[in-house]
Amino acid sequence: MGYVKVPGKVTLLGEHAVVYGYPALVMAIDLYTRAAVSDGEGAVEVESTYPGGRAETRIGLDGRGGDELPYVKAAIKKVWEMQGARRPAKVSIASELPYGSGLGSSASVSVATLAAYSLSYGVKLHPDQLAKLGREVEVQVQGRASPMDTLAVSLGGLIKISHEKFEVMGGGLSVKAVIACVGKEKSTGESVAFVRKRKDELGSRFDEILEEIGSLVESSSKAIKDRDLTQLCLLMNRNEELLEELGVVTERSLNLVRRARALGATAAKISGGGFGGCIVALGGDEKVASGLAAIADRVFLVTESNGVSYG
Ligand code: PMV
Repeated sequence: MGYVKVPGKVTLLGEHAVVYGYPALVMAIDLYTRAAVSDGEGAVEVESTYPGGRAETRIGLDGRGGDELPYVKAAIKKVWEMQGARRPAKVSIASELPYGSGLGSSASVSVATLAAYSLSYGVKLHPDQLAKLGREVEVQVQGRASPMDTLAVSLGGLIKISHEKFEVMGGGLSVKAVIACVGKEKSTGESVAFVRKRKDELGSRFDEILEEIGSLVESSSKAIKDRDLTQLCLLMNRNEELLEELGVVTERSLNLVRRARALGATAAKISGGGFGGCIVALGGDEKVASGLAAIADRVFLVTESNGVSYG
């Protein structure tokens, strides 16, 4: 009946400061969640695979079941609400995004489910609608979510986000990046709480750090418009220093950042909440990727991607 492909995302600049109202720069990446929908009977039957796992569930038309896939279930119910009818279907989801590593896996799965299941009603949701609905799904499941992830995976490309406003940076840079991930020591919520406590310890320096991070993101607009990747890299490296000063970069992540630079990356920084998770490196490509594979749990060589696509 239909098929949809939704990218993941990586944060290039501005994490943590974005929580305090400063802008951030995110990029959609070519690691995808693919979802296919076909006719079903009596229920919405879901099969979902992701790196290292697989789940199968059945969501009855009475809304029962499916709790092991909370984002999928919330997305299905969101479509029921919108369409005012409950249709049986088979939804098959396959994601290349590791769960909970800051690469937008939950946003990507939520948006893919919304888009694919809506196809069974003959409705092709627009990327803007998907970003908004996807965020509603994330808020429902997590209690709180920034609009960053669902915007990035729905619209694609490079996006500057502040509060509820966003700007698609059509730079045509086709940025390539190496992403290297290790286990997370704190959840996003815990790392945001840690930074809130650092505000008391750092005093006025805290505000200076956030302000500077905000100005790095502002400067990135010009770098992208000028297609100046080297300048973008300099901004990312400075952002890394400021994140280190905030205290969210663990020894293991710092090791990855340093190794990436030693292997020839022009930029390397953590991406997302920190305390483990992923780092992102620009420049250097294959050599950086294979060098980091020896010390990271997972390594991806990615390229800037378009947003949602229907097939
Ligand atoms: O690690 P992630 O992708 O969950 O990103 C967290 C980004 C923060 O700025 C630290 C928090 C947020 O909600 O924006």
